Amino acid sequence: MRILVLGGTWFIGRRIVERLHERGDDVLVVHRGRSEPDGWVPVEHLRTDRRDLHAHAGRVRSFAPDAVVDTLALSAADVDAVLPVLPEVPTVVLSSQDVYQAHTGLRHGRCESPVPLTESSTLRRERYPYRGAGINHVPDDYDKLDVEDRWCSRAATILRLPLVYGPHDWQRREDVVLRRLRAGRRQIPIGAGNLLWTRCHVDDLATGVLAALDTRAADGLTFNLGESRTWPLAAWFTQIIGAAGADAELVRVPDAALPQDLALTAVQQQHLLVSVARAQEVLGWTPGEPSHRVSESVRWHLEHPPAEGAWTDEDAAADDDALAASA
Ligand SMILES: NC(=O)c1ccc[n+]([C@@H]2O[C@H](COP(=O)([O-])OP(=O)(O)OC[C@H]3O[C@@H](n4cnc5c(N)ncnc54)[C@H](OP(=O)(O)O)[C@@H]3O)[C@@H](O)[C@H]2O)c1
Repeated sequence: MRILVLGGTWFIGRRIVERLHERGDDVLVVHRGRSEPDGWVPVEHLRTDRRDLHAHAGRVRSFAPDAVVDTLALSAADVDAVLPVLPEVPTVVLSSQDVYQAHTGLRHGRCESPVPLTESSTLRRERYPYRGAGINHVPDDYDKLDVEDRWCSRAATILRLPLVYGPHDWQRREDVVLRRLRAGRRQIPIGAGNLLWTRCHVDDLATGVLAALDTRAADGLTFNLGESRTWPLAAWFTQIIGAAGADAELVRVPDAALPQDLALTAVQQQHLLVSVARAQEVLGWTPGEPSHRVSESVRWHLEHPPAEGAWTDEDAAADDDALAASA
C-alpha cells in the first residue's frame, strides 16, 4: 500500500512509519523537517508545515496514497488546512482519551464518569483543555474534539489514545521514578497512588494503527486503544523500580506534602480507565502484557537518559520535606 503519514518522525508516528516500512508499504512522511531520526528507514519525505500543504498538492497527487495516517492534528485549523489537499481514501487519525468528561473530572478532583470509559462515554463539555497552560508543543486552540469532528466528515477511523510510553517518548512518562533512581534516591514519596490511568506501549499502538488501516469495517468508527488490564499508579511505579533493578522504596506521605511532579499520586476521585473491547472485536487487536512492556520501555530509557532535567538540590529538598512529613 501507499501510505501518506502526516507527522511521524518523533515518537508514536515514528514507530508507525517504521512498522509500515517493515511490512513493505511505500510511505510518504509529511513534516517540517525539524525532527528527522539519524540513519532512519528509507521513506520519502515531504518537508512542509501542514498548514502549507496546499502548496504541495501536486506532490500529494503524484504519490497517490491508498490511505492516510494523521498522527499530529491538534486543532481544527490543523485539519482544515489538509482536507482539501488529501484524497478521499481510508484515513486513520490519532486522537486522545482527553476527549472524555472524565478527563475534566480528574483535573478538577471530582468523579464525573463511571469507568471503564467506552467510546460512547460522555464527552468533555469544557473546550480547549490546555489553553493558557503553556505546555510544550500544545497550541492554545488544541482540542481533539474539533479534530474528530472535522475528520468525521471523511469517515476517518478515530483512535483515542491513552498515556503512551516506550522508546523515543519525549515526554518520558517513567522519568518521574527513573530520575530519582538515577540520582541514587532510596526512598520515593508517594500519595495513595490509586489512580487507574490506562497506558499503552508505543509498539502495541502501532499494531492497532496498522490493524485499523487494514480493516474496512473500521472506517468511520471510533476506538479506544490501551492495555487490557491496568495497574494503579503505585503498582506501576513499583514495576518501574523493579524493571530498573533498583531497591528504592515507595514511602506514603500526606497528599499536601507531595512534590509537584508526584501530585497525580494523591487520592483521586476520577479514574481514566478505558475499555478496549471494541478495538479487540473489530480490529482483532491484542495489546501486549503490561509488565513485560514496562520492562522493555524502562530498559530503553535507562540506556538513553535525557539530556535535560537533571536532578537538582531543590528536587532533593522537596522529596526530603515530603519524606519528613511522612514521619
Ligand atoms: N504521547 C501520548 O501519551 C499521547 C496521548 C494521547 C494522544 N497522543 C497523540 O498522539 C499523536 C502523536 O504524538 P507524537 O508526540 O508521538 O508525535 P509524532 O507523530 O511522532 O511526531 C509529531 C510529528 O509531527 C511533525 N510536525 C509537528 N508540527 C508540524 C507541523 N506544523 N506541520 C507538519 N508536521 C509537523 C513533527 O516533525 P517536524 O518537527 O519535523 O515537523 C513530527 O514528525 C498526537 O496527535 C498526540 O496528540 C499522544
